[in-house]
Amino acid sequence: MAKLPRITAKWAQTLDGRAAAADGSSQWITGPAARADVHRRRAAADAILVGTGTLLADDPSLTARTPAGDLLVPAGEQPVPVVVGSREIPAGSRVLAHPALGERFPAPIRLSGSDLVAELTSLGARGIDSVFVEGGPHIVSSLLRAGLVDELLVYIAPALLGGPRLAVGDLGIDTMAGIHRLEFTHTELLGPDLLIIATPAQKEIR
Ligand SMILES: NC(=O)c1ccc[n+]([C@@H]2O[C@H](COP(=O)([O-])OP(=O)(O)OC[C@H]3O[C@@H](n4cnc5c(N)ncnc54)[C@H](OP(=O)(O)O)[C@@H]3O)[C@@H](O)[C@H]2O)c1
Repeated sequence: MAKLPRITAKWAQTLDGRAAAADGSSQWITGPAARADVHRRRAAADAILVGTGTLLADDPSLTARTPAGDLLVPAGEQPVPVVVGSREIPAGSRVLAHPALGERFPAPIRLSGSDLVAELTSLGARGIDSVFVEGGPHIVSSLLRAGLVDELLVYIAPALLGGPRLAVGDLGIDTMAGIHRLEFTHTELLGPDLLIIATPAQKEIR
């Protein structure tokens, strides 16, 4: 029987928990060492997932690359791109030229996001055992709210942005009794930035 892939949610934020500026621009919150770390971890995942909000705002390549821009691992080992949401991928988007696309996965995998447990399990059925989620805040919040995240990678820049663009939105928690406790399993300075890896103290799919 197919099982859920391992879900890693990664985001970059300022010290005050913002993932983007008020105008939506979010490029380069963290520095080169943090970004290189992200690319190494992307390369280890079977799939890389974003919501349509991120796809349309950033036109990400969703590949694992070296700082010089070359592929970090061969095309066949690159994580398969997965896009969640109903909006179309615009023609000319970088993800449509993703090197992992070919005979096995002719196009980015599309999920509607209406039933994340079932849709992520369907990825497991297609041989995808690990998914690296790269945002944005809405899809990460939905996955956290559903209790589907096995590991959080939070890259924190020593910077402040303020404003409305929080890294994580509503988790459906109204009272302290519902707090999601985590355990920090790793901390590391990457140049000026801090990486914190955390896992849920208790995993419970809701
Ligand atoms: N700092 C970081 O690490 C980081 C990372 C990524 C993005 N960002 C920034 O975040 C912004 C975009 O974030 P976002 O939160 O608007 O976009 P998002 O989370 O990438 O995408 C949200 C969209 O996904 C679709 N969706 C389908 N099912 C969903 C579900 N169950 N839960 C949530 N969404 C679902 C919806 O679009 P449909 O209407 O198409 O169904 C929804 O509007 C950009 O400014 C981007 O630059 C920052």
